[in-house]
Amino acid sequence: MAKLLFEWDYSSYPGAKTYPNLFQPIQIGNLTVPNRIKYAATEDNLNDHNGFVTDADVAYIRSRAEGVVGGLCFMQGVYMDEAQKGQGYVGQAACWDDKYVEGLRRLADAIHGERAIAGFQLMDCGRVGAVDVDRGHAPSTVPQRLRIFKPMYEMTNEEVKEMVRQHADAAIRGIEAGFDVIEISGIVGYLISNFLSSYTNRRTDEYGGDIRGRCQAMVEIIQEVKKVCGADIPVGIRLCSDELLNDVKGNTPEESMETYKIAEEAGADYISCTLGWQESIYPVISRDIPQGNWLYLAKRAKEHVKIPIQMAYRLFTPDRPNKAIGDGDLDIWEMCRSMIADPLMPKKVLEGREDEIRHCVACNLCLARLFRDAPMTCYINPTCAHEHDESFTPKPVEEDDKKDVMIVGAGPAGLECAYVAGMRGHEVHVYDKREEMGGTVLEASRAPYGDEELMTCPHYQKEMCEKAGVEFHLGAEVTEELIQDEMPDTVVLATGPVYSKIQGKGGDRKNVVNVLDVMAGTAEVGENVIVWGNRKPGIGVALKLAKEGKKVTIVGREKSAGFDVNPSFKWRYMIYLKQNGVMAYNDCDIEEINDNEIIVKTYDGYRLPVKCDTVIVSEREANDGLKNVVQAEGIELFVIGDALVPRNMSSAVHDGYRIGLRI
Ligand SMILES: Cc1cc2nc3c(=O)[nH]c(=O)nc-3n(C[C@H](O)[C@H](O)[C@H](O)COP(=O)(O)O)c2cc1C
Ligand code: SF4
Repeated sequence: MAKLLFEWDYSSYPGAKTYPNLFQPIQIGNLTVPNRIKYAATEDNLNDHNGFVTDADVAYIRSRAEGVVGGLCFMQGVYMDEAQKGQGYVGQAACWDDKYVEGLRRLADAIHGERAIAGFQLMDCGRVGAVDVDRGHAPSTVPQRLRIFKPMYEMTNEEVKEMVRQHADAAIRGIEAGFDVIEISGIVGYLISNFLSSYTNRRTDEYGGDIRGRCQAMVEIIQEVKKVCGADIPVGIRLCSDELLNDVKGNTPEESMETYKIAEEAGADYISCTLGWQESIYPVISRDIPQGNWLYLAKRAKEHVKIPIQMAYRLFTPDRPNKAIGDGDLDIWEMCRSMIADPLMPKKVLEGREDEIRHCVACNLCLARLFRDAPMTCYINPTCAHEHDESFTPKPVEEDDKKDVMIVGAGPAGLECAYVAGMRGHEVHVYDKREEMGGTVLEASRAPYGDEELMTCPHYQKEMCEKAGVEFHLGAEVTEELIQDEMPDTVVLATGPVYSKIQGKGGDRKNVVNVLDVMAGTAEVGENVIVWGNRKPGIGVALKLAKEGKKVTIVGREKSAGFDVNPSFKWRYMIYLKQNGVMAYNDCDIEEINDNEIIVKTYDGYRLPVKCDTVIVSEREANDGLKNVVQAEGIELFVIGDALVPRNMSSAVHDGYRIGLRI
């Protein structure tokens, strides 16, 4: 009889009727999992730099455990060597000594407190490791492709055996801490994948050679970990189904499937199907990759092994995994970023509250921060990594402190502020001169490569506003008179930016148009286009027009195009600009505009003519409109989002949330 840790009955919930396959039990090893939901292991850089678990990490994991409604909740991968070669992140939890067990137990207890299954992950980061030491360890000394990673030295045969032992010892500590499932991380360029891959394993001893030889270290780890886990604790492994490393002679997809079969033979109780490496040149999880794109890999994996297959990778809504499970192509739906963005995502699915889900927009800021030694945050979830911090939780206001709040602008800043203030008990009115909510996201979401997903943010906010009793006044422009008539207690200006004027000659010509009008399709645009501004709005409009067949050149004042986009996404934009033939003059400005050309002035004073029939303005400035009026009336004033400083949707959301807490 398989072990069941917690009883769950989903039969009365609407989500279990809409997505019946997600709420069926499944057995992994000797353990029954009540549903098909898993929060996948996620580094968060929240632990202290000696590897001890912190309050912040415990609170972070507790909220994800609540979200999986009885399913699997994994803590981040732990590193296992005192020498810290396997440590990939400054705030990664450690497990190389018994002294860590107490902190790890807090995580297991927090997960069990939500009646979920506690997963423990073993993760030696290999080529991606050595974050705090000079050199890392690897099967062979293959030079790094990415400059942020340290050089590696080749492990001796004894060191490989020691590494196997470290996995088994760490598994013992995980079990002692109370975890129910042990998982070995063999993904994206970490140590086990380094052994498996023909790209990074050039050894000629028992741990190298053909695919069986390259799998030997993994086999020993699985076998040793299985030994210490016994029959009751399942052991799984995350393995690449396609490395996407053809250009450097990585494993073929056939070899990857061999690794799956060998892992099964060695005793793995399930496989989590992953793909790509940090070093691969193909995108895997950014917004430009359609959701569900990779499900065929889970299906292929299931054709090669009998043990359950789990998979994440751009499965942000329940419909696709529900269908894949029903079709027999997948067994367990894993989630990482969709539960960074909304820890309660699957719980809301179960409860039929899908409109209340704050969807991940696949920007990869969370990842970019980890690689720069910063604690994780989320682009659109202001409470991410602040779950432990009381001051981030909206608190009801006292009856006497309730205010009449006027919010000007129904973009992401205004809407975020509105629902938070509304939830706290203020009377909130949101005004916008447009008939539609969303602010400039309405236009930004018309850019190609998946940007339509940005609209999930205002959709969520609108839903939350309605729940919080916020009143909307759409198609209503706020004027001095309106403010004087209404005399609210507080005004929040979330009006968005103003667009800069080109100072050079010809800046007011008819062929100079605004980026929002171009995105909305209401401006006339010729065939030879200049986009003024090399931040994200400029890149978005440039890519849209280039894909429509126009010749586009960007002229911008920042030193590099996409200066405001995080590095884990920016590289995609750079490739798309190149693929679509978009030229960029960075660190430059427009000096003059004529009928058929502009004069570009470079940072060092050179002037060059560039052919063009239309100039699109995407440079922005802070918006001072209405500020003086509000101040003159002595009304409490907040300015947020791009109206304060033009930035991005993330800053708008975070500004809105924090001011919503403060009013
Ligand atoms: C911030 C971040 C941290 C991650 N940390 C880990 C980790 O500790 N161990 C691991 O096996 N995978 C890790 N991953 C990979 C995820 O578990 C997941 O496989 C991947 O993000 C794809 O799923 P998604 O599209 O649902 O985000 C991490 C991913 C992100 C974005
Ligand atoms: S930071 Fe971006 S990619 Fe990461 S979870 Fe948040 S929205 Fe998703």
